[in-house]
Amino acid sequence: MFMLHSINSALRSLSRQTHEEPCPESSASIEGESQPQGSRPSAEEAPSIIYGTAWKGEHTDRCVTQAVTAGFRAFDTAAQPAHYREDLIQTKYTPPASQDPENMPYSPDMTITEQVRASVLSSLHNLRVGTPDEAAYLDAVLLHTPFPSREHTLEAWRALEEFVPHRVPSLGVSNISYGQLEHLGQRARIKPGIVQNRLRAKTGYDKELRQLCALNGCQYQAYGVLGSNRDLIACRPVLEFAAEVGVDAAVSLFFLLQQTLGVCILAGTAQTERMGGSIGGLARVESWLRDKKNAHAWDALSGGFISELQGYM
Ligand SMILES: NC(=O)c1ccc[n+]([C@@H]2O[C@H](COP(=O)([O-])OP(=O)(O)OC[C@H]3O[C@@H](n4cnc5c(N)ncnc54)[C@H](OP(=O)(O)O)[C@@H]3O)[C@@H](O)[C@H]2O)c1
Repeated sequence: MFMLHSINSALRSLSRQTHEEPCPESSASIEGESQPQGSRPSAEEAPSIIYGTAWKGEHTDRCVTQAVTAGFRAFDTAAQPAHYREDLIQTKYTPPASQDPENMPYSPDMTITEQVRASVLSSLHNLRVGTPDEAAYLDAVLLHTPFPSREHTLEAWRALEEFVPHRVPSLGVSNISYGQLEHLGQRARIKPGIVQNRLRAKTGYDKELRQLCALNGCQYQAYGVLGSNRDLIACRPVLEFAAEVGVDAAVSLFFLLQQTLGVCILAGTAQTERMGGSIGGLARVESWLRDKKNAHAWDALSGGFISELQGYM
């Protein structure tokens, strides 16, 4: 799978080649009444780790090539030239307020609908692989951030829905609160299949939002895992687990979060060694966990980690 984001998008032709509001309880649903869905990746197909291409600039090409070689099979990018060089690999629709006015993939004078169309078409062009633009498609496209107005968010979403299922099978949204997701999900024809948010203690590790995602078959992708969780990466269970299995603390944290919270990790290192270390390390931990003799140690270590999450599991 080759997945790209921000409108989070992924180019299927590449996949062939490379093989904040308080919220009520978890009974809430984002499903409307028998409305059509885009095709979403099954739980088995959904990636558990994604290589992120933000801030790589002219090194995007090299980093992505190295990440593929290291074993990454899902990639995240954005039609937001200030932070992503989508044209050097692959894509998100990013609203005007988050764009550099001098360097945007559409005119800010366009309506929101027109902006979304222009942004996705530019992503399809940038991410085509040896095919005419008309044959290019993306595995998923994300709305990079909701608009301050829910009406505008819905307008952008309706424009994204036009691309489903033929050009883009799955849609997602980033930097969204529980209330915003619930509102969008109840009105969307194509339900959000991906939520990409910063995972951190300050927002209770998005506990309620993750529960809403889980209830509705929506994958939660976590960014900021290393940068926004300094305490967590240095906590005892993470360090002990790293020492037990022989991986670095970053891999230990990635794995513990995947297993305990069920989240997909976004990893954006620019260092080749760390790319290989993440993929190889996760494989090593999975193998360690399969060994029945480690079951007791895992229960103790993961239990200790859950305590560090302060009830926000
Ligand atoms: N949707 C959004 O609004 C949004 C916002 C931010 C990010 N993202 C996505 O998420 C991706 C990841 O971004 P991120 O903010 O989570 O951070 P990151 O880019 O994964 O890494 C943050 C810092 O941690 C270091 N690092 C990475 N791997 C490491 C390791 N194994 N050991 C020690 N240090 C390590 C990196 O340095 P080195 O490069 O030197 O290793 C970097 O300085 C982005 O590329 C982007 O695709 C999305």
